[in-house]
Amino acid sequence: MKRLKAFVAVLLAVTLLTPALAVGAESDTTLKFRDDGTFKIMLFADPQDDEDLEETTTAIMCEALDKYTPDLVVYLGDNTVADGYENQYKAIEAVTKPVVDRGIPYSLVFGNHDEEHNVSKEQLLEIYQSFGNCLTYDAAPEITGCGNCNLPIYSSDGSKMVFNLWMIDSNMYNSDPEVGGYDYVHEDQLEWYKATAAALAEENGGEPIPAIDFQHIVIPEIFDELYVELPKSLGDLSENRNGKSYSKLPVFTRLNGYWLEVPCPPNCYDGQLDAWLEVGDVIAEFHGHDHNNSYQVNIEGVDVINVPSCGCNSYSVDISRGAGLITLHEDDVKNYDYELINIFDLALAKDSAIPNVDGGKSKAYYALLKVVDAVVQAMFKVFGLFYKIFPEGIL
Ligand SMILES: [Fe+2]
Repeated sequence: MKRLKAFVAVLLAVTLLTPALAVGAESDTTLKFRDDGTFKIMLFADPQDDEDLEETTTAIMCEALDKYTPDLVVYLGDNTVADGYENQYKAIEAVTKPVVDRGIPYSLVFGNHDEEHNVSKEQLLEIYQSFGNCLTYDAAPEITGCGNCNLPIYSSDGSKMVFNLWMIDSNMYNSDPEVGGYDYVHEDQLEWYKATAAALAEENGGEPIPAIDFQHIVIPEIFDELYVELPKSLGDLSENRNGKSYSKLPVFTRLNGYWLEVPCPPNCYDGQLDAWLEVGDVIAEFHGHDHNNSYQVNIEGVDVINVPSCGCNSYSVDISRGAGLITLHEDDVKNYDYELINIFDLALAKDSAIPNVDGGKSKAYYALLKVVDAVVQAMFKVFGLFYKIFPEGIL
């Protein structure tokens, strides 16, 4: 019965939403800057949870949403990992509930784990579309992945498109056993991206519409930016990727956020960065996938930002766990603000439920984390100073 209800709801949602969504057309679901000229996007990365969503994850979502009141929420992939249709349905219902209850529009990208549980991405997307105001749609079902689409943001007076959001499926695992590892954004997706961006630019007098790209897996160039390339492989003593060998440890002066695990991009260059540079619209890429990292780097003019996990069902550490918050400014769209909303800051608020829910810890624990984080953030500032003085690195 529940499946029948879900099916009817899906049919209704698809019927209602599909005609309303187009490359740059205004609709009922049009995103607009507020009258004060801001647009806030909250990011939830890697909840990676089942039908029994961790209570601390729900609390993080609810308290971050209430405190920062975003205009849009983006789920950055590895959202649900429940087994089978019924459980995935319940898991998606649970992970979207804090957002749906507040009437906030949301979108999502898929990660490498979402489809691993006997439910296809197309079915998962239909479930999402049956809950609340889900803006992700499969703009080009014929290309690789599911849910590739763009969401334009209009000026506060609604007269013109001023910004654009790309939702890109970075896929799952590389099918070439010689390469292995995680998959990448495929050529047909990049061709679709270029064609869609060109259509948007045409609507904008030939000028690219500034944009942010959201996807689960980071671009492979992260290793060129964060690590030292070695003249030859040192076997297991080096990181061997993209046909190159890199140092095991990153260039610490490049770190301005936590690096608590080795990034996991694809093992080959995919041309996505080149496509962004060719089109000239993407100013930043936000990704999840690596649950514990929160660094931000700039690669050839594009900010590349790792949003740490908001969940703890898979793995995470409380020092970096939380949600991301982007604030766009209508009068200067290329200069956005970004901050990490930490679990410890939320938990230390007077009325926070986090210390009292199942899995929560004492206020003293979160206070200690805040102190440790303050010390580490000061260290990052010193690293940043070194980087300014020695931009080519000191290693
Ligand atoms: Fe992942």
